[in-house]
Amino acid sequence: MSTPALEAHALRKEFGSNVAVRELTLTVPEGEVFGFLGPNGAGKTTSMKMLLGLVRPTSGDGRILGRRLGDPRGRARVGYLPEHFAFHEWLEGRELLRYHARLLGLPSRGLDNLVEERLRRVDLEGAASRRVREYSKGMKQRLGLAQALLGEPALVFLDEPTSGLDPLGRRLVRDVIRELRAEGTSVFLNSHLLSEVEITCDRVAFVKDGRVVREMRLGEEERDLEVEMRLDRPAAGLTDGLSRFGRDARSDGDRLLLRVDSEDLVPEITRWLAGEGVGLYRLAARRPSLEEIFLEVIGDAPVVG
Ligand SMILES: Nc1ncnc2c1ncn2[C@@H]1O[C@H](COP(=O)(O)OP(=O)(O)OP(=O)(O)O)[C@@H](O)[C@H]1O
Ligand SMILES: [Mg+2]
Repeated sequence: MSTPALEAHALRKEFGSNVAVRELTLTVPEGEVFGFLGPNGAGKTTSMKMLLGLVRPTSGDGRILGRRLGDPRGRARVGYLPEHFAFHEWLEGRELLRYHARLLGLPSRGLDNLVEERLRRVDLEGAASRRVREYSKGMKQRLGLAQALLGEPALVFLDEPTSGLDPLGRRLVRDVIRELRAEGTSVFLNSHLLSEVEITCDRVAFVKDGRVVREMRLGEEERDLEVEMRLDRPAAGLTDGLSRFGRDARSDGDRLLLRVDSEDLVPEITRWLAGEGVGLYRLAARRPSLEEIFLEVIGDAPVVG
């Protein structure tokens, strides 16, 4: 098996008496686009910084690209777009990328071409000669993304890459992530934009109070199908009878909800309802969105100290 892009073993970070990350244990295989999801303050940025070797763990350990956390040989192959990217605002966009390319130790031969290619990739070639201080928030974010991709990284950490972006900018980031995946680059993504995560990530972990409470592959087949029915009468009396077809039968006025394993059960359910003399106004079978799962997981997950 190939070396995982990253591994974390019981990583913990305390800031004084505040536990920012309780116990992070996680493996991201090579080439995976991985989404790290959780509410504000859950410890996502701190986790990312520990993996990058920018914050020293209180305890636990991990590896990125097979190297111990903080090892320069691992870091040399990593790209990072921080949540709050501090720019040299007096530089032009192009100069800033050249500066970062030199900091990375990239050879000067081919460097100009590389910088122009990255500017094009984030749609900033027209603004390359303007000073960063004149850039809008979204332009800065795209410049930060170009910076993260300079060194042909094998693993890219993106902390809220679309937070300042309009729909076009978000699509650009999505396309960049898809290109990275096609090239075999691993991506570790923090994002609150779950609709974006849903279409870009292979797998996600939900983190709450500094601990992973659920991991999930984003293939539809792994999500429960939910059938929603609207009836001609109060639905409460029917939940027991419907339970034979699925799980979690719930009623809410004339609405009935049921989780099922397969769409093939839908005709059986309608036949059963008709047999009971129930009039059916509406029936819809759908899979819950990532946002709904997020609210369920983050809302209900027990927190153990
Ligand atoms: N340098 C620091 N010193 C003290 N406390 C910190 C520091 N950095 C983070 N924290 C605390 O650690 C906890 C986790 O913060 P973190 O920034 O990792 O959350 P996050 O999941 O990235 O949140 P967001 O979604 O808002 O970006 C918070 O309680 C925060 O106040
Ligand atoms: Mg954060």
